[in-house]
Amino acid sequence: MVETKQGTLFFDGCDVTELARKYGTPLYVYSESVIESHFEELRRDFLDRWPGSRVAYAAKAFCTLGMCRLVRRAGLCIDVVSGGELHTALAAGFPPERIEFNGNNKLPQELELAISAGVGRIIVDGAGELERIERLCAAMDRRVAVLLRITPGVKADSHDYIVTGKKDSKFGFPLDEDVLYPAVKRAMDAPHVDFLGFHFHIGSQLFDRVPYIQATEAMLDVVGQVRERFGVTVSELNLGGGFGITYTDEERKPFRYYLDPMLERISARFDQWKEPRPAVVIEPGRSIVGDAGMTLYTVGEIKEIKGVRKYVCVDGGMSDNIRPALYQAVYRGVLANKMDAEDREQVTVCGKCCEAGDILVRDISLPPAERGDIFAQFCTGAYGYAMASNYNNNPVPAVVLVSRGRDELMVRRQSYDDIIRCQLIPRSLD
Ligand SMILES: Cc1ncc(COP(=O)(O)O)c(C=O)c1O
Repeated sequence: MVETKQGTLFFDGCDVTELARKYGTPLYVYSESVIESHFEELRRDFLDRWPGSRVAYAAKAFCTLGMCRLVRRAGLCIDVVSGGELHTALAAGFPPERIEFNGNNKLPQELELAISAGVGRIIVDGAGELERIERLCAAMDRRVAVLLRITPGVKADSHDYIVTGKKDSKFGFPLDEDVLYPAVKRAMDAPHVDFLGFHFHIGSQLFDRVPYIQATEAMLDVVGQVRERFGVTVSELNLGGGFGITYTDEERKPFRYYLDPMLERISARFDQWKEPRPAVVIEPGRSIVGDAGMTLYTVGEIKEIKGVRKYVCVDGGMSDNIRPALYQAVYRGVLANKMDAEDREQVTVCGKCCEAGDILVRDISLPPAERGDIFAQFCTGAYGYAMASNYNNNPVPAVVLVSRGRDELMVRRQSYDDIIRCQLIPRSLD
């Protein structure tokens, strides 16, 4: 979907320099065709291959009305982690029964919203939450289907901030006897709760399937224990997301690489028990939208510190992409209007925020940059817009959806007035 024509970068059939001119920069651009291609792979290699399975797109990666519509149109489910994401999905007309609600500290009002909307699943993160759900359901005279999130005690290889399956984690139930099984019993006995099974999510941007397989085995052992202790076989297992994508030179693996061995183990264990395979759900986020997005910036100041480095400053930065500053994420990028240029030099592309750590790409080889050039940073579709802030009171950029040469605004650019819209001057300061 990314190609060069006459020295200019095109994304899903659109000249990105034209997009920059039409909508201004910084600008997030999403390719519908790339998102669709990931849906297609998931359909072919997971949903069709393993009947009874479901994909719940992890909205946290990129949650807008338009994205919820794309997921709805694809017939998939959606995983939300806050009242705000839930509201966005509902406002986009997402069927509530296809919404799954995750999160380690769901607020009372968030649970109430989820239960009254009739969400399909709540992924329960702890014993206190289970009690609160029971009480709320009883008071509201509603029922809700739940899974319990477990921390399977595996260590996946990624940045520490996005590794979640180890025991020392704020997420989920540890596998401790005296914590997990009483919660299972409670969920099974609760009159307003339908206990369906278990959930894990071991981390994000993962390339090795071994921790996934280990987590699956740990989960199956728990399922076995529940059979032995309570005579109940669960009907649903959720394997989370986390499948890695290519930012620079990582090798993206097909979904099957991770999913087949997990599904094979689940099938084998349930066959052994002479039980039907449970519904299996996955929650990919980054792997659906990560490489479907790029960010366009306009080059401004260029600063050369002799013998040290050359800074190419752009009109956005950590306020629209916090990942490099937050976990040293590394990206590729190009000068979109100089794709055929032969000269190259090593520079550091930095943002305009007042932090020395506001670096978008360190030591990148680009054609000599000039004021007004368009820098395109690749693979910013996941956790870019989603983590954007108004730091330095910079407006959050617009989002454009492109598809086979067509472009449409998906989120309008914030104005300065949008930034102060919720602000009040205390009467004492009048
Ligand atoms: C519970 C849960 N599911 C799914 C995801 C999506 O992960 P990814 O975007 O890496 O696929 C996350 C990410 O943090 C998560 O916490």
